[in-house]
Amino acid sequence: MLEYREDSEAISLNPMTRKKKQGYGDAAYWEHRYQHDVVPFEWYQKYDGLRDLLKKYIHATADILMLGCGNSALSEDMAKDGYYDITNVDISPTVIKAMKMKHLDLPQLKWVCADARSMTIFKSGSLDAVIDKGTLDALMCGDEATENVNSMVSEVFRLLRPGGVYLMVSYGEPTTRMPYLGPSRRAWSTSLHLLPRPTAAQEKYSWVRTLEPVPVGEDGILPPHLHGKDADFHYVYACVKEKLNVLLDGQ
Ligand SMILES: C[S@@+](CC[C@H](N)C(=O)[O-])C[C@H]1O[C@@H](n2cnc3c(N)ncnc32)[C@H](O)[C@@H]1O
Repeated sequence: MLEYREDSEAISLNPMTRKKKQGYGDAAYWEHRYQHDVVPFEWYQKYDGLRDLLKKYIHATADILMLGCGNSALSEDMAKDGYYDITNVDISPTVIKAMKMKHLDLPQLKWVCADARSMTIFKSGSLDAVIDKGTLDALMCGDEATENVNSMVSEVFRLLRPGGVYLMVSYGEPTTRMPYLGPSRRAWSTSLHLLPRPTAAQEKYSWVRTLEPVPVGEDGILPPHLHGKDADFHYVYACVKEKLNVLLDGQ
């Protein structure tokens, strides 16, 4: 049974505390963590919270990459809900080995140890969807944050087929993420969805329609009624790779 420790630790990934949390950007931090803590940890949201958005953007027959899978139950839950083909990538050999052993009964799931910043083992344009829950956020920590995130997003873009989607689940507000994900950076269109955190007072957010994207510009500034210090959201960025420009680029 998965232990669900709601995102108290994820909240501490806040850039304000970045200095203390630089380890999140380091492969050695994650390898050490997975060697010494075998209790599964689900970041931000469980499958239940993401299911409708995943269904909106990703067909069950899609070729999917789960980027920085950790020991999350998301891929397992998706496979049990009809998704056929999910390749799970993580930089930690320990977590990949453990997850592979744990899920021998689910042939829909493949497990690969790789660095999200350089996934040369995968062919360009070979994927319909890349899902990232907390991995870009992790790379946002550390001294080389900008280079690391740019390398990872470039790789995601390269791997997607025209029309494919990068679904990025984050605690990060759009002003901090749109500079990496905005349409001026790549030939894709970016939509933003708001998802109240599981710990949020749900009645306070009954007006949120998660499936309907909220307007957000390249600068990431939200309309006044949607931002504020007490906004208790996770943000889901859906970047859909364009078809025309991509063909012109020859990718
Ligand atoms: C915040 S955790 C999220 C884990 C999982 N996606 C979840 O939602 O529970 C970030 C994950 O990214 C992995 N990671 C960090 N840097 C990576 C990199 N350069 N390439 C691939 N995976 C990486 C870590 O090992 C860790 O499992």
